[in-house]
Amino acid sequence: MSNIKFPKHVLFFVFLLIFLLNQSSDAYGGIAIYWGQNGNEGNLSSTCATGRYAYVNVAFLVKFGNGQTPELNLAGHCNPAANTCTHFGSQVKDCQSRGIKVMLSLGGGIGNYSIGSREDAKVVANYLWNNFLGGKSSSRPLGDAVLDGIDFNIELGSPQYYDDLARFLSKYGVRGRKVYLTGAPQCPFPDRLMGSALDTELFDYVWVQFYNNAPCQYTSGNTKSLFDSWNTWTTSVTAQKIFLGLPAASQAAGSGYIPPDILISQILPTLKESKKYGGIMLWSKFWDDQNGYSSSILASV
Ligand SMILES: *[C@@H]1O[C@H](CO)[C@@H](O)[C@H](O)[C@H]1NC(C)=O
Ligand SMILES: *[C@@H]1O[C@H](CO)[C@@H](O)[C@H](O)[C@H]1NC(C)=O
Repeated sequence: MSNIKFPKHVLFFVFLLIFLLNQSSDAYGGIAIYWGQNGNEGNLSSTCATGRYAYVNVAFLVKFGNGQTPELNLAGHCNPAANTCTHFGSQVKDCQSRGIKVMLSLGGGIGNYSIGSREDAKVVANYLWNNFLGGKSSSRPLGDAVLDGIDFNIELGSPQYYDDLARFLSKYGVRGRKVYLTGAPQCPFPDRLMGSALDTELFDYVWVQFYNNAPCQYTSGNTKSLFDSWNTWTTSVTAQKIFLGLPAASQAAGSGYIPPDILISQILPTLKESKKYGGIMLWSKFWDDQNGYSSSILASV
């Protein structure tokens, strides 16, 4: 058999083709999960060991801003006041070693938080850097784990100065390891509390809450409102990726639950038409365990 010699440019195109095919197989979405608000949802390591999640939001920092001493709340998982959450630090690292990004989520539906001024935004950013990111503090709630970023889940209080907070946090990432910024706005556009923060165009991942929001969520047999809203988000917000945020079980939210078979057959194909599609966000690990939602959808996300 004689050696077949391909001209160099043919080989170049073969390699380019292989490269592009690999790229498109990476184009699948991932699942983001909220962990932390139910002590019966398993620990962080076991959450990440399921292999179902690409992003974990540790929820929530319920108190910050206006000179308040910031307060982490991880429900029944541990007691930050007694400093018993630090053992989750090694579990954060465990998750990261699996390629999972771990964010600290600010806010939530209960708590007492708001930012009083640009200066206050700087103080909060500095606190987050020193206590959860690459800085140093003697009282880091999750020990020496360096989280990948900060998730904005602002559902209460004033909309002011979250854009400043995003800018200050992002600057820390320029000097050291990147600080990912993620956010969970409500689907009515623009988000009443986080709109100006998202306008900074500094956010990497935006998981929009398509639940508890009648005007833009799925209702039985009607995908139009959701698609219209999805289209607005993916064309109006500058972020790396946009995610569809959903309750992991019908009991996990007041409304907006989408049965897995409907999500897979009627919704995901349309979402994937957008280059901005990043995957699905689920509230929460506890409800996902009850309903097996992520297992049902993982292969299609
Ligand atoms: C996490 O939970 C699993 C399952 O319950 C358990 O086997 C494991 O020991 C826990 N990990 C840590 C570090 O506590
Ligand atoms: C919330 O914090 C403010 C100060 O920032 C304080 O005046 C107010 O009493 C707090 N509210 C609750 C319910 O803790």
